[in-house]
Amino acid sequence: PSIKKMLRLADFEEAAISRMPREALGYITSGANDEITLRENRVAWNRLWLRPRVLVDVTSVDASSRILGFKSSMPVYISATAVNGLAHPGGEVLVTRAAHAAGVIHMLPTLSSRTLEEMTAARHPDQVQFYQLYVSSDRQRAADMVRCAEVAGCKALFITVDVPVPGRRETDMRCKGVAATLAGTTVASSATFYDPKLSWADIAWFRSITTMPIVLKGIQAGEDAVQALHLGVDGIVVSNHGGRQLDGTRSTVQVLAEVMEALRSLPGRSKMEVFVDGGIRRGTDIFKALALGAKAVGIGRPVLYGLGAFGQDGVEQVLHLLGEELRTCMALMGTPTLADIKPNLIVSDHRRCY
Ligand code: FNR
Repeated sequence: PSIKKMLRLADFEEAAISRMPREALGYITSGANDEITLRENRVAWNRLWLRPRVLVDVTSVDASSRILGFKSSMPVYISATAVNGLAHPGGEVLVTRAAHAAGVIHMLPTLSSRTLEEMTAARHPDQVQFYQLYVSSDRQRAADMVRCAEVAGCKALFITVDVPVPGRRETDMRCKGVAATLAGTTVASSATFYDPKLSWADIAWFRSITTMPIVLKGIQAGEDAVQALHLGVDGIVVSNHGGRQLDGTRSTVQVLAEVMEALRSLPGRSKMEVFVDGGIRRGTDIFKALALGAKAVGIGRPVLYGLGAFGQDGVEQVLHLLGEELRTCMALMGTPTLADIKPNLIVSDHRRCY
């Protein structure tokens, strides 16, 4: 199929399935164990319903946003995914170029196929990149990685906190995929990327070694969101790692509601931005996340499907579709600006949906 036929993100997933090698797909599509959380992430968005308001002037709809103070064409960023070279040899470099074309921020992964230098050299002078950190148990090494990211011009540090140990991705293991290989290497040198000792005290230490804003990626309980706020981090990402870590955890939309409730009316609340990722495939999903209180959403797999099926153009088109869908949704909802998106514009109807 040609890229012109790609009308929705699901089309890219299908195109990627027909074009990409089985091993690469096994790594990208899979979730942990029975993939209950992976599926739940997707369907949970459908259980929230939109309550549009009418007779609002929506001649001009503006979805432009700020994420940690940095401009973005929409409240969407590209979340870090490991080894993008699996999807396309251009890997993260092409993703960064596509991010610039679409005016969104790219979060660079620790486990990249291309070097940090290559990824940051691909950045346009006006473009913003963030850095995702897997914390090495060798803290000197972790500190060096943070410093390198900062020197290379990354503007925020997203510390992944949901991988004290890797999850079990059986689909991937069965097709002898990359996660299995990666897990194999990390067992051999377990000090490299994951650290089961990582704890709250380390977060305070990260604060002391960098001036980049710090965001904790992988929060799944209101209590942890409150603790993050008390520590004074700049943001949190409500995330279950795209259903790849602990199977049986709740959808991120459900957790987001809990987190917003826990943070409500706490002092300093407005200084910490809350993001969410997991299963976001439609402009309406983005709208629902914002209505719940998220500042922006992260996108994982769709970027890899776009990249795998059509290279840089595919990623650009994925982002373009999300932007178009979000603006259409905003117009139909009677919300010409992001500030108009309020919690009373969504309802969850339990009788009907569960
Ligand atoms: C990921 N994710 C991830 N997260 C992270 O912090 N570091 C990483 O190296 C990776 N690697 C990775 C690889 C692949 C193939 C996937 C699919 C995901 C998780 C990612 O950042 C994000 O949380 C989820 O992908 C969001 O869910 P969706 O959009 O994929 O449903």
